[in-house]
Amino acid sequence: MPFVVPAVASRRAFLVGLTGLTSGFVAAAEFRRASADGSKAAMELKLTAAPGRVSLVGKPHPATDVWCYDGRVPGPEIRVRQGEPVRIVVENNLAEDTTVHWHGIRRPIAMDGVGGISQPPVRPGESFTYEFTPPDAGTFWYHPHADSLQQLGRGMAGALIVGEPGPVPVDRDILWMLSDWRLTAGAQIASGFGNGMEAAMSGRVGNTVTVNGIISDEEPVQAGERIRLRLVNSALARIMALRFEGHHPVIIAIDGQPCDPHEPDGGRILLGPAMRVDVVLDMQGEPGRRYQVIDDFYDGLSYWLTELAYQKKAPLRAHSFDPPVALPRNPVPEPNLNTAQRYALHLQGGMMGGGAMAGTGGMMGMGGMTDDGASWAINGMSMTGDGQTGMSPLLTLQLGRSYILTLRNDTAWWHPMHLHGHSFRVLSRNGAEVRRREWADTVLVPPKEAVDIAFVADNPGDWMLHCHVTDHQVSGMMTILRIA
Ligand code: C2O
Ligand code: CU
Repeated sequence: MPFVVPAVASRRAFLVGLTGLTSGFVAAAEFRRASADGSKAAMELKLTAAPGRVSLVGKPHPATDVWCYDGRVPGPEIRVRQGEPVRIVVENNLAEDTTVHWHGIRRPIAMDGVGGISQPPVRPGESFTYEFTPPDAGTFWYHPHADSLQQLGRGMAGALIVGEPGPVPVDRDILWMLSDWRLTAGAQIASGFGNGMEAAMSGRVGNTVTVNGIISDEEPVQAGERIRLRLVNSALARIMALRFEGHHPVIIAIDGQPCDPHEPDGGRILLGPAMRVDVVLDMQGEPGRRYQVIDDFYDGLSYWLTELAYQKKAPLRAHSFDPPVALPRNPVPEPNLNTAQRYALHLQGGMMGGGAMAGTGGMMGMGGMTDDGASWAINGMSMTGDGQTGMSPLLTLQLGRSYILTLRNDTAWWHPMHLHGHSFRVLSRNGAEVRRREWADTVLVPPKEAVDIAFVADNPGDWMLHCHVTDHQVSGMMTILRIA
């Protein structure tokens, strides 16, 4: 596997002088309350998708040509409140169609942002108004669901943070939007999106990982403070496993959904593409010292993402910390495991070590599609691209009923599988019960393993289920579940 995964460029080669906890906050003033009637007041916001130019690497390297929202990478950090309506007008100033998918938000299908399935694509020069009321508090994100390889790979992604109604006892609430880029020596985005060989393997893993749109040498912290750190993996394909040297992060939410606070297995926070993890980080290090944050997911290719740089100030508080408290639960309906109907979904295709296609037994294209580009399939069907009209659903589910899906990975590669419009419980892995049965909207399925997920089909519509390694999605590892 490592032979297809480029190492992250040496930080010395791409040295950035100074970084802070910069993130593209949408200033409160950019929002305005719709004046009409008080009860239906909505947060209003405008997002413009357009080419831009940003400094990812820093001086003396040139700025990078990107595609982005509001001229920023990542896009504006949108902060809204649970249960309050939001209205977001998206204007398309790109030279091609786009849409915006609000990843993980359980909202009506018409606002799902899949061109050809839930809405017509937004043409160049046109705009589309998304309106929804986020039912769940937590860390979500937004990205296009059109020409995803290029649009996401060239920088179109941002965080959507839905605030809890009450305060969460932390000193600071910080976002790290993690992005992976394949840059040339001139700090430009390398061409070659959609390479077929890569698509049948790990997908387009890059060589430069940024934190909030910049190569980060340090993140300043103060001894004694308690931070809520929201981690979002917005990479096309790179899987991450983060370790915080000298610290004990406690996971309090996964994919926006609260979980029992716990330390990650082996101290590594696993983040596949599209996954989010909120941790509470107690700053128990020494003033003046630095501690590395290391990503060592790929064997032999570990690198440090940034360093926690302690200011020389005295600790913010003297006493030690109490354990973090659990966040309030979101109103996700609980699946009934006794009456749930079961289905098995086989994830198929891709290269084996030897170069042969695996798992599909020559069944590629059985979905009746002209899928020359297909390398992957789900139960023998390959849906390619970003969604098309007329694609028949793999399964039709009954509104209000509970389902257990077994996602069985018959391939030699990892797949972060995402279901639109729902959060599900992760019940078991390889038949062994998962201790916390955490909620998620994207679950990482290791090679040759199986994961059982359960959910209530409570949201009517045609919902995408796909791998979030973008190359895998667009080359066949995607399907539709119809809830009618
Ligand atoms: Cu992050 Cu189909 O989505
Ligand atoms: Cu995949």
